[in-house]
Amino acid sequence: MITAMNKEIIPDNWYNVVPDLPEPLAPPRDSKSDISSINLLNKILPKEVLKQEFTFKRYEKIPDEVMEAYEQIGRPTPLIRAKNLEKKLGYSGKIYYKYEGATATGSHKINTAIPQAYYAMKEGVKGVTTETGAGQWGSATALAASLYGLPSQIFMVKISFEQKPLRKTVMNLYNGNVVASPSTLTAYGRKILKEHPDTPGTLGIGISEAVEYALDNDYRYMVASVMNVSLTHQSVIGQETKKQLELIGEHADVLIGCVGGGSNFGGFTFPFIPDGDDTEIIATTANEVPKFSKGDYKYDLMDSAGILPQVRMYSLGADFVPPTIYAGGLRYHGASPSLSLLINKGRIKSDEVTEEEVKEALRTFANTQGIIAAPESGHAIASAIKYVKAHINEKKTIVVNVSGHGYLDLSIFGEKK
Ligand SMILES: Cc1ncc(COP(=O)(O)O)c(C=O)c1O
Repeated sequence: MITAMNKEIIPDNWYNVVPDLPEPLAPPRDSKSDISSINLLNKILPKEVLKQEFTFKRYEKIPDEVMEAYEQIGRPTPLIRAKNLEKKLGYSGKIYYKYEGATATGSHKINTAIPQAYYAMKEGVKGVTTETGAGQWGSATALAASLYGLPSQIFMVKISFEQKPLRKTVMNLYNGNVVASPSTLTAYGRKILKEHPDTPGTLGIGISEAVEYALDNDYRYMVASVMNVSLTHQSVIGQETKKQLELIGEHADVLIGCVGGGSNFGGFTFPFIPDGDDTEIIATTANEVPKFSKGDYKYDLMDSAGILPQVRMYSLGADFVPPTIYAGGLRYHGASPSLSLLINKGRIKSDEVTEEEVKEALRTFANTQGIIAAPESGHAIASAIKYVKAHINEKKTIVVNVSGHGYLDLSIFGEKK
């Protein structure tokens, strides 16, 4: 590969979808009468991150230091035509995949971890903290913090902590400190442990613990997903994909990605929104977490304790405890407000797939393309396979975002839940 050409594929700016939404986003609301959400966000987020969360500007220049770091962790990521999969499915259209598993930490999460840790370091804070489901976000946070000389405290959802012990090793290698959440490190964690000692944990509980930890220790909270700023940073995925398609003279007829809180999906698909309606966009969730089909579009809490602001989104309720599926990163009750709005307005469609369909899709993708994708990404692949089967005689160009690799998730094959 020619490095100079590669470098040009990385965009200079992040893209923010907010000015291109069909109607203004409903503003966030305080979750509790005694806490001002804006005051709280001011305390837990680096100022630049907070500014980017609420900006109406379409483009935000990526700082040179962050561009440099993006190159170091493997951007741009490849866009590959899945010819063997096409053949196996007997499809006469084309399937491409954008492979975020090729980054140093193995998923898209590093795209926003880097700028957030960079802005935290610039402010001279004591460290950064966050929650993690499957461990991809925790790994990205730990590495990004380490790159900028900051300690990191990561609250890993208990069920994932138990299912994926090697993730802890990875985070430790990146100089991160990890505990199973709920933990005894925070008052909220201790309360949950007392009330529900056998809880598998949820991302909502992990967020609440990390926010409390940030407030008590002069740390900054790293936003994994849901909030707009993380989707904006992830727009490097979709912008690169557009350039790569342009270079090979292709047009995306269909884009498919998986949704936990919406960060890889928004980052991958939103840069296509200003181009009009001729690209079909499909957001796929686990059928165990059916937020778009069974959730309500309403104001709801982002975290279980109700510390962060309420936002208008599709939600199954902040106290919803999803089943212990292997795709830990999809066990979240809500979805980003901008994605929720685009789904509500019909611009983006949703799909759901079962764990069995996902395992089958992961196997097929592995034995055709050689890529062992993350279980979360397996939802996008399963959804794409479903799409192909339902449109077998159409010659569309389908692009799937494979948000991460699954080398640390291999226990899902062969073990029963
Ligand atoms: C590989 C991978 N893909 C997808 C997700 C879902 O998160 P999001 O919807 O924010 O992209 C996660 C979350 O942990 C993940 O690790």
